[in-house]
Amino acid sequence: MRLVLLGLPGAGKGTQGDRLAEKYSIPHISTGGLVRSVIDSGLKLGEIFNAYIAKGNLVPDEYMMEMLRQRILADDCRNGWILDGFPRTVAQAKRLDQMLEHETEVLDRAIDIRISGEEAVLRITNRRICRSCGQIYSIEHSPEKVKGFCDKCGEPLYQRPDDNVEVARLRIKVYMEQTHPCVHYYAQTGRLTSVNGEQDIDAVFADLQAAVAVLYAKKAGGQK
Ligand code: AP5
Ligand code: MG
Repeated sequence: MRLVLLGLPGAGKGTQGDRLAEKYSIPHISTGGLVRSVIDSGLKLGEIFNAYIAKGNLVPDEYMMEMLRQRILADDCRNGWILDGFPRTVAQAKRLDQMLEHETEVLDRAIDIRISGEEAVLRITNRRICRSCGQIYSIEHSPEKVKGFCDKCGEPLYQRPDDNVEVARLRIKVYMEQTHPCVHYYAQTGRLTSVNGEQDIDAVFADLQAAVAVLYAKKAGGQK
């Protein structure tokens, strides 16, 4: 199963991507996560990436396409993947389609997790993340049990440097201008499902599972 998760910053792509990956045993690939790991590695390239991410801008396509290509050609991606944060532009969406065509594969669905801009800012500023295992928390909706430490692995939590109100607003603007057109791209090619992201986390996950079940049923029936 090959899925793309679309949605405003804070929509729940990371939260739901983790759950879907566990449920369907396919990797959850966050391109934001890939960018942050290059930044954390201390490589020169990380400094270049940081200059974009810190201002809420997109990292240029030439870097992103190559990182994505290498990641989805890895062995663990043979049975599919869940992309979170990719594509960010219609150009990236088209290049993903070309890349898949080359491998005689197809994207099964793009799923748009819909929330409002106000909800996005609220969620982003309330988010905390485990530095070690990446578990996502919300100080409002899903707080950790011991303040500042991960429930799963006990390591300290942190707040992403781009998770402040000012950069969040810029990220939302960039999303509406550059990424939202992908929703139309997938709708026009009959590959879009939308879910209401302003329900609780379990309810959003239930809607996503229902959408994925339809896709598996179609595949089992031999339909494209
Ligand atoms: P990226 O890391 O992808 O950030 P983003 O798109 O801004 O999305 P977020 O990670 O902020 O939100 P999310 O939807 O994952 O929400 P989450 O599940 O954490 O990208 C960062 C940067 O990298 C970009 O700005 C860009 O510079 C660069 N980049 C990445 N990909 C690129 C590409 N392809 N091309 C170019 N540049 C690229 O949830 C948020 C919070 O809400 C959490 O606290 C969570 O607990 C809570 N929450 C989740 N669901 C619910 C719910 N249903 N109810 C209540 N709270 C909820
Ligand atoms: Mg995320």
